[in-house]
Amino acid sequence: MNEPLILVVEDDPVQRQLVRENLEAHGYPVVEASSRKEALEAVLRRPVDVAVVDYKLGDETGIDVIRDMLAANPLVTPVMVTAYGNIERAVEAVRAGAYDYIVKPLDFEKFLLILERAAERQKLRKEISVLQERLEEKLSSKNFVFASPLMEEVARLVVRAARSEATVLISGETGTGKDLVARMIHQSSPRGKGPYVALNIPALPETLIEAELFGAEKGAFTGAHERKIGKFEAASGGTVFLDEIGDLSPEAQVKLLRFLQDREFTRLGSNQALRADVRVIAATNQDLDALMKKGRFRADLFYRLNVIPIAVPPLRKRKDDIPVLADFFIKKYAAREGKKIQGITREALGVLVGHPYPGNVRELENVIERAAVFAERDVLGVADLPLIFTETAGEDPGPAGDSLVDKVRRLEAQEIRMALREAGGVKSRAARALGITERMLAYKMKSYGLASGPADEPGPGRPSRS
Ligand SMILES: Nc1ncnc2c1ncn2[C@@H]1O[C@H](COP(=O)(O)OP(=O)(O)OP(=O)(O)O)[C@@H](O)[C@H]1O
Ligand SMILES: [Mg+2]
Repeated sequence: MNEPLILVVEDDPVQRQLVRENLEAHGYPVVEASSRKEALEAVLRRPVDVAVVDYKLGDETGIDVIRDMLAANPLVTPVMVTAYGNIERAVEAVRAGAYDYIVKPLDFEKFLLILERAAERQKLRKEISVLQERLEEKLSSKNFVFASPLMEEVARLVVRAARSEATVLISGETGTGKDLVARMIHQSSPRGKGPYVALNIPALPETLIEAELFGAEKGAFTGAHERKIGKFEAASGGTVFLDEIGDLSPEAQVKLLRFLQDREFTRLGSNQALRADVRVIAATNQDLDALMKKGRFRADLFYRLNVIPIAVPPLRKRKDDIPVLADFFIKKYAAREGKKIQGITREALGVLVGHPYPGNVRELENVIERAAVFAERDVLGVADLPLIFTETAGEDPGPAGDSLVDKVRRLEAQEIRMALREAGGVKSRAARALGITERMLAYKMKSYGLASGPADEPGPGRPSRS
């Protein structure tokens, strides 16, 4: 390890010199500062690791120096030096962010010990910050696109899950990105270089699931002509992704539970307990609570899986993501098709944003892929989108002409319908979401012939709840 760079902040030149010589004698490189201003400059200019700060610096206090320093460079580890009788101040310093403190006159042996520990901590923090940067790079990397606060929260959970070994349960409607989230967790985790083994449970016949997961000895069942290695063994050192966990058979649920509890399992047709070093990530688009109530999913297994729950919200709840996702998919498929598609018209984007997406991101991706395949111009327009997007069946606000006014009306009606749906039919909430008054909303609904749906509010003249 490179010796850590130490900054000595001390206004008394004699004392400063003494500390410097002592540190240098022990092989530490040292820079000096005699004031708050110099200290700040030093941490801005040099990669200071540990700062030794005297409490009294002329008119200034070391506390302010520490605050300045940490604001400028949070990776500096400050150590406060204070005179006897000022322990409260030392406590104050630690509160301000000092790692430790030492009292004067300096006992150099003790001092060096503290510095060593501070330097060790510094090294760890640097490593962590490098790792974190790499993670953030990966997350912001081309594959995982979002702009909404809801997905930002998901991304934060992904980072946290990647740092841990705990089991993750990802839930969300079809096409929301559960697979992608699982893969990102694996890739960003220390197991990222290890295998990633995914198993789509409903795709397998129930009788084979156990053998697929845990393996089977030769002759364990009809057709088992040789020993079969299960996914858990195959994924050793990496991650197992169990997709659609709600479809797991009761027998396999018991085995999985046992594995999550003791990290042990047996191959089918064998009693020998085996261990596998794998991290488990499970996903579901079913409501596991409902399955548990029906007795189809074990509660104990649910709690073992649900250590880090990540709920990926449906696309209609995070419309801010639609423009960036659209842009991302346009680039992706334009490149694949060898086309020079620059983007999408404002109007077409409006149509995309207005759609409710029962198929979530996958549906958006498919629509853009199709548009990119057939596009004849450099910019995607409304005509490149499927009819169902523009003429939502059965919900047409009126005769749809082709004039701009008609299109705008159509979009507006669509937005209002969406807002009402989101608000569960509560007009005041929908109006707030649309940024218009309730009166305006009522007027527009009348003009488009829209009803507000099940949760209608009390009529005019009665106080409205909000
Ligand atoms: N945030 C995102 N950024 C970029 N692409 C995304 C994002 N979310 C989803 N996708 C893409 O959308 C498609 C569907 O996502 P994915 O397969 O992860 O969904 P899923 O939730 O696992 O769906 P299912 O429940 O049907 O298995 C994939 O091609 C995926 O790459
Ligand atoms: Mg999936």
